[in-house]
Amino acid sequence: MGLFNRKKSAQMQADLTKLPRHIAIIMDGNGRWAKKRGMPRTAGHAAGAETFRNIATYCKEIGLEYLTVYAFSTENWKRSAEEVGALMGLLKKYLLEAIEQMERDRVKMEFFGDLTALDPELQELCQRTREISKRYEGCQVNICLNYGGRDEIIRAAMAYARDCKEGRASADSLTAEQFGEYLFSKGVPDPDLIIRPSGELRLSNFLPWQAAYSEFYFTDVLWPDFDQEELHRAIAAYQGRSRRFGGA
Ligand code: IPE
Ligand code: IPE
Ligand code: MG
Repeated sequence: MGLFNRKKSAQMQADLTKLPRHIAIIMDGNGRWAKKRGMPRTAGHAAGAETFRNIATYCKEIGLEYLTVYAFSTENWKRSAEEVGALMGLLKKYLLEAIEQMERDRVKMEFFGDLTALDPELQELCQRTREISKRYEGCQVNICLNYGGRDEIIRAAMAYARDCKEGRASADSLTAEQFGEYLFSKGVPDPDLIIRPSGELRLSNFLPWQAAYSEFYFTDVLWPDFDQEELHRAIAAYQGRSRRFGGA
């Protein structure tokens, strides 16, 4: 092995005993994955759902505290009714299976986003999943569903304004910590590492408030092809960063 290769493989060694507390993933590239294979976009989403299952299970195995995934954005409603319908169908299927396995997996699940826009059956499944989750501690998986970062901040601002009007809060003093209590992510530490596969170099409205000091990892791999090794690469890259949070 040449010096370069040795160096490269050393860089890929993730230390799983020193994990970041919270990893967030923009699960992108399903459509392109399907297109490359001459398949409909919906087949890419089905493959992406499988990848999510595998990665979530693996994160629990290695002892990650928080995993947050972007499943459907407030902007994704712009897609065809067929594609949106297929995505919602996959979510229902996933949640039904997850509910069945929760006793065994003991993964705590939460949802970030405005669930009221979802069809009643899906809302009910999210609610049931949340209820069952209350019993569990350990790995928490947050699924961002009809989630938009700006939408989250606007909702928080409106809730805060309401509290001010009704005398529960003061319009003259507000800290970032207090504002965080009004966000969907209430109680969850900010993501240490945000991963975006598929080669796109943007946030697409994913956790803009919480990402203030996150480390980013971008890869060209499409989400359905993302695997444990890719996750190790991302963690290894994260472990090589120097986080200063504005200090010297
Ligand atoms: C991510 O894959 C899934 C969702 C946004 C719901 P895409 O469907 O965006 O896949 P590409 O980006 O078109 O390849
Ligand atoms: C972000 O991906 C949303 C999800 C992965 C759920 P998009 O594919 O919607 O983002 P853009 O359109 O490329 O910015
Ligand atoms: Mg995309």
